[in-house]
This record gives sequence, C-alpha cells and structure tokens, in this order.
Amino acid sequence: MAVFKYYKAENDIGKLGAGVCNISCGGDKSVTHRAMMFAAMAEGESAIANPSRSLDCQASVSALERLGVKCSFDARANRLSLRSGGLKSLSAPRGFIDCANSGTTARLLMGLAAAAEGLSVFMTGDASLIRRPMGRVAAPLEAMGARIVLSSQNTLPAAVSGRRLRGIEFDNIYNSAQVKAALILAASGAAGRTVITERIPTRDHSELMAEQFGLELKKTALKGGGARVAVRGPQKAVPASIAVPNDPSSAAFYIALDALFQVVYGRRLKIKAESVLVNESRSGFYECLFDSGFDMIYTACSDGMVEKSCDLEVNFGGYAPPSPQIIDSPARVVSMIDEIPLAALALTFARGESYIGGLSELRFKETDRLAAVAAQLNKMGAKIKAGEDSLIIRGVKKLKGAAVDSGGDHRIAMTLIIAGILSGADFSVSGCECVAVSNPSFFEDLKKIGFVFHIA
Ligand code: S3P
Repeated sequence: MAVFKYYKAENDIGKLGAGVCNISCGGDKSVTHRAMMFAAMAEGESAIANPSRSLDCQASVSALERLGVKCSFDARANRLSLRSGGLKSLSAPRGFIDCANSGTTARLLMGLAAAAEGLSVFMTGDASLIRRPMGRVAAPLEAMGARIVLSSQNTLPAAVSGRRLRGIEFDNIYNSAQVKAALILAASGAAGRTVITERIPTRDHSELMAEQFGLELKKTALKGGGARVAVRGPQKAVPASIAVPNDPSSAAFYIALDALFQVVYGRRLKIKAESVLVNESRSGFYECLFDSGFDMIYTACSDGMVEKSCDLEVNFGGYAPPSPQIIDSPARVVSMIDEIPLAALALTFARGESYIGGLSELRFKETDRLAAVAAQLNKMGAKIKAGEDSLIIRGVKKLKGAAVDSGGDHRIAMTLIIAGILSGADFSVSGCECVAVSNPSFFEDLKKIGFVFHIA
C-alpha cells in the first residue's frame, strides 16, 4: 500500500502561484465508459478522442476486449479505437470478466450483455466492488427477459445470460445514472418500447451518447423536474467518432484547492482547468462553490464536442471563508454525487454550520463515504458528523496534520490530500495509489502546481 507523505519544511507556500498553472485533468470518465459501450454495440470502427485513462475506464477496455471488441490506443493522437462486429458478435470469454473497482463498468456491461442474445458472461470485481449493490440493475434487466444470477447478497459475482429482450416501463428510484445507462443499452437491443422515468434528473451522458451512435430516443421533461426517456427497439447502433471533454469531477479537486488556498493562505495558486465538461447534471459542486462565495470564470467555451466544455478558474474572491450551506435538494445532491466528500472539506472552512442531506447512496460507493469522510477529516481537526444519510459540518478555522487513510477510495484519497495541503502541516495518506482509479495524473498535477511530496 502506497503512502503519500508531505512535509511542511519541504514546501515553500510563498513561492506557489507565480504564474497561471494549466491543468488538463483527462477525459471524462462517465462519457468515456458510455462511448466505449455504445461502440461495442455498433458494427465497425469507432474512435474516442481524449478518452479517460483512468483505471476504471481501463477496466471497461479490458472487459470489452474479452468480449471480442478490438481496442487500440494511439498515445500520440490520444485516441482510442474500438472495432466491433456489433452486439451479435460479442463472444463469451472463458472465466470471469474482472470489472476491478469500477461500478460503471459492471453496471453498464450488464446492460450490454443482457441484450446480446446467446452470450453468457461471468462478472466480478475487487473487494470494494463485490460489496456494492447490483440488484438495482439486474432486476429491471431480468424483467426485460435477461437471466442474471447474483450472489445471495445481490452483489457480484454475477452470471449474465443475454436473451431476446422486450421493453419495459421502469422507475429509476435510486436516481442512478448507471442503471439508466444499462437500461438504455439493453433497450436499444430489445423488442418494443422501454420507458425510463426519473423524478430526479441524473447525468444525461447516455442519452446524448446514444444519439451519436445513431440511436433514437425520446426524452420528455416531467413537471417538477426529472424526465422520461423512451427507447423503441430493436435499433442498430452505427460507429461514431467522439471527442471527450475533460472530467469535471477530477477538475473539482484543483478548483477546490485553489479556492480554499485563498482562504487559508491569502493567495491564489492560479489554477486553470482546461476544457472541462460543462453539463448541468454534473455541476452541483461548482454551484455549491459559487453559493459559498467563490465566483467561477468560464472561458474558451466550445460546443464542438458532443458535450460542452470550458476552461475553468476560480475568480479571486478575497479571503473570506465560504458561507455555510444547507444542501438538501435531491437534484443538487445527484448533480454533485461524486463531489460530496470534497464539498464536506470545502464547507469545513465555512463560517458556521453546514448540512448536506439525502446522502443514503454515499454508503454504497467505493467505500461508505459518509463514514470515511467524517472519520478521516475529523482526524485532521474537522468537525463533521455523519448521520444516517447526511453530513453536518461545523466550520473550523484551521485543519491540522495527521496520518489518515483513504480506505482504498480514490475520491476520499484526493480529498484527504487536498485537506492535508490546506492544513499546512506534515501529514500522510495511506492507500494513495487508488487515485488512478479516476485521475491517473493527480500526482503529476500536484507537482506541476509546485508541491513537494513523497510516495513510499
Ligand atoms: C456514474 C454515476 C454515479 C456516480 C459514478 C458514475 C455514471 O453513480 O457516482 O461515479 O457514470 O453513471 P450512480 O449511478 O450509482 O449514482
């Protein structure tokens, strides 16, 4: 297990932020997973420019290769090519497909495999993934006619047998974008109409991506928010060329660091996160920063890709601590679902008490993130109380150094490293290698900003 070690004496904070530091945090993970899965459905060659190089997306590449999709990455062009014979060509590999730490790989792959008639796949994952709930995706796929056997706990390992599927009506009660994606993939291969209703809007990358691959779906807005997505199948996906903007969930760490650095040290790091995906269904954390008093600057915006992107910076907002927040709107929570640990850190520096509610899903992420964020940040002097499905965050003036542990969760690891840097003291984070699950360039980026640290 690798340990991130930071010593105050090696870091001259006063020297940082001399010039603008451009960070390209790599292609968006959610968009890349989807582009790959739809490419596997399409007969012919698809190309993905600027794909996420995360371990999670590599798990999807390996899984699709094992099903017979030919994948090749051109590092110079930063482009991934996938050649598939279409849904019917997917072939059963020997042994298990290992989805590693990636919930998105596991859930999307279930949708894809369910629609591939005659295919039988066995799926598993690492110690964290095999604890995560899979019944939420298996149940609707079974209702469509697939045969899926899960463990007695409704988790991986799973055996999925693709069948001739039929459309269903489905209520996305867990507000899960992964379940929606699995069902859109399956529905494209199913006979008849599938209707997915979501009362709270979840990230809409699958809908946008399906269209790029020539699939037709109809999305209607529901009164009071949410939407209904209807797919009439079977439809044939056609190959596509996709350009992926950079990942806002990775960019959030650098933006938060710059914002909070101002509060703690009274100076900016001048970080500019380049070509970041800008999508309302992913923007909750940035809105939370804005509501806390940090103005965001969006420049060099482009609609040229499937999704919009902009360069992102925090405006120099003075040195005021963030305003405390009450975040209890389900739509807001869903749009920042992966950034909740980081939001808890940001609000730790607020002047007063903050509350984030409706967080029951956080208990089922890579770790129990409610427990992890409270336990580890509190070791650094934060005052966070994890309730059943909420966080209460009492603002503190300063954090302190400590030896903390990521629990093998990439977003907890990055949150703790940012917290440690802001403590201005010696600290260490064990289990730091997992940052590559979503953000393989994280350590290089920290070096580029000017931090000195050791990984032992
Ligand atoms: C994701 C959806 C979210 C998110 C995950 C990625 C996706 O999970 O937490 O990191 O790509 O669809 P849920 O669908 O479980 O909310």
